[in-house]
Amino acid sequence: MSDDDKRLAAEAAMAEVCDGMLVGLGTGSTVAFAIAALIRARRRIETVATSEDSAAKARRGGLTVRDFANVSRVDLTIDGADEIDPHLRAIKGAGGALLREKIVAAASDRMIVIADGSKRVAALGVAKLPVEVLPFARTFASMRLAALGATVERRGGPTDNGNIILDAHFGAIADPAALALAIAEVPGVLGHGLFLDEVDAAYIAEKGVVTRLERGRASG
Ligand code: A5P
Repeated sequence: MSDDDKRLAAEAAMAEVCDGMLVGLGTGSTVAFAIAALIRARRRIETVATSEDSAAKARRGGLTVRDFANVSRVDLTIDGADEIDPHLRAIKGAGGALLREKIVAAASDRMIVIADGSKRVAALGVAKLPVEVLPFARTFASMRLAALGATVERRGGPTDNGNIILDAHFGAIADPAALALAIAEVPGVLGHGLFLDEVDAAYIAEKGVVTRLERGRASG
């Protein structure tokens, strides 16, 4: 994991940002470099943020941050990932913002992931899969996730939405689509960190070299 590579990936993604765009800001340390680059670029853009932390960083730098509650469509979202596989399927949510990230991604015409090379995996599941759960359902949902094969840890502190995160460690996930469906069916689960269809492209920086992977052209 390298801050230089995070910065390089974030700066490469700036090529996709045009004046007039509504840009979705993801969450995390790599996105922080993207927010800094957007501030420096002085583009005539507006933004929506996937976390209070990203909103605060953007506002401090003078970016306009709109309330997503009044927004139905975003031009381009730039977000990080905890893992990304060769098919551009990702695990997200280590920063706890997965629910807003998934909503903003769904509203976006295009979603790009920026990451350093440590996030590339052959198969998802090395990282823990964060699941946002209604506090009322924490024990029940934890038991259901365990029944699906996970070791489950409850994270401290509420999310920006006032909910809790259960970190579910499944190990290598053989069928991410089936697992995503099974988790989504658990009453009390509000969202999970499997992003299987959302990512259109990824900018991955490794030892100073940025590679762009485009959905449909990704291999493996
Ligand atoms: C935030 O909830 C996550 O989805 C982040 O996008 C992810 O954890 C990547 O964060 P870093 O860029 O800090 O690794």
